[in-house]
Amino acid sequence: MVKGFTLWFTGLSGAGKSTLANLVAEELRGRGHRVEVLDGDEVRTNLSKGLGFSKEDRDTNIRRIGYVCKLLARNGVIAISAAISPYREIREEVRAQHDNFFEVYVKCPLEKLVERDVKGLYYRALKGEIDRFTGVSDPYEEPFSPELVIESHRESPEQSLRRLLEILQQAGLIFSASSLDAADID
Ligand code: ADX
Repeated sequence: MVKGFTLWFTGLSGAGKSTLANLVAEELRGRGHRVEVLDGDEVRTNLSKGLGFSKEDRDTNIRRIGYVCKLLARNGVIAISAAISPYREIREEVRAQHDNFFEVYVKCPLEKLVERDVKGLYYRALKGEIDRFTGVSDPYEEPFSPELVIESHRESPEQSLRRLLEILQQAGLIFSASSLDAADID
């Protein structure tokens, strides 16, 4: 029986968390699931408005997102979080509050992120114009044992999506897609 659960993306800014979160959300809605995405940038304009990037504020932000995910997940929704969530201890705290928690580490070397720099923030952070920028002047603690690691510089978002869907399906967390072309899966 498919239940709600929390799909938790973690990783540096620009690594591809939101892209993958939105792709998987769209796919799962198409398969009949109820899905909500809590995206870091968006949460910071409402639920966490006013919070900054000190450790304390980041922890508060992540605890809030984790709490909402827990409420959604226990009501049958697939709650998807896409925030940096740099601190291992808080991620583990959120995990402990869940029956079903699936952590995806979206990993990408800093050099690639600086090269891409979609929002221009790495350029500014490296020049010292942004304080406490994750990966540059603030810590990011990699997960020790995430359910899945996506190396976003080694595969396309669509390939990552397929791998993620397969593993979620194997874990019995999502419906299979009869419409999915089997030949299309590597
Ligand atoms: S978290 O650390 O609290 O999980 P969150 O995912 O909500 O971070 O927000 C990260 C986003 O805020 C980044 O993608 C970036 O656009 C923006 N941002 C602004 N300042 C910083 C900073 N100092 N460190 C990281 N991200 C920042």
